Amino acid sequence: MYLTSGAEATVKLEDDIIIKERVPKRYRLSELDEKIRKERTRAEARLISEARRLGIPTPVIRDIDNYTIKMQYIDGPPLKHVINDKLSEQLGELVGKLHMGGIIHGDLTTSNLLFYNERIYMIDFGLAFMNSGIEARGVDIHVLFQTFISSHHDHESLTEAFCKGYRHAFSEADEVLERVKEIEKRGRYA
Ligand SMILES: Nc1ncnc2c1ncn2[C@@H]1O[C@H](COP(=O)(O)OP(=O)(O)O)[C@@H](O)[C@H]1O
Ligand SMILES: [Mg+2]
Repeated sequence: MYLTSGAEATVKLEDDIIIKERVPKRYRLSELDEKIRKERTRAEARLISEARRLGIPTPVIRDIDNYTIKMQYIDGPPLKHVINDKLSEQLGELVGKLHMGGIIHGDLTTSNLLFYNERIYMIDFGLAFMNSGIEARGVDIHVLFQTFISSHHDHESLTEAFCKGYRHAFSEADEVLERVKEIEKRGRYA
């Protein structure tokens, strides 16, 4: 059964396993395109496993093959449908752990977070990368806060709860959260 078919990948559910396949980009020369897709497939699987080692719930990787990742199906709703202050604080702790471990998720929207077995799972590491800079961390959180603003009326208390969890998990949190405010200002006056 097809779940989604996006610009980067198709996602299928077969026998309780998720199969995510990177699709060709026609504008790239095919040899280069194949190389890039293989690299990104491997990078995504590696970062999913690395995040898991840091203690962040992510799908268990079952198999990697050229452009395809087979992984555990997380059978729960996207966080956007269930989020509240308590879960937002929990999410802050997870993102704090991720950043402390040197990983940037790169697409922290409430669709790439699933609620399952009373835990928040991070999925979709297709844009993730290793970086320990304040700016990359700030942008990661800025993206999340923008999705709070656009889809939740109580976004201010969600933001506050997130910051509480993030500070709790991560000693460099204050500096990053200051940067998030700067990034917001840049956006307003751009
Ligand atoms: N391991 C998984 N368990 C459950 N659903 C998944 C899983 N991986 C992907 N999905 C579903 O497929 C959608 C697209 O997958 P995602 O990895 O986010 O790819 P894209 O890069 O296209 O956004 C997700 O939003 C989610 O609904
Ligand atoms: Mg996604």
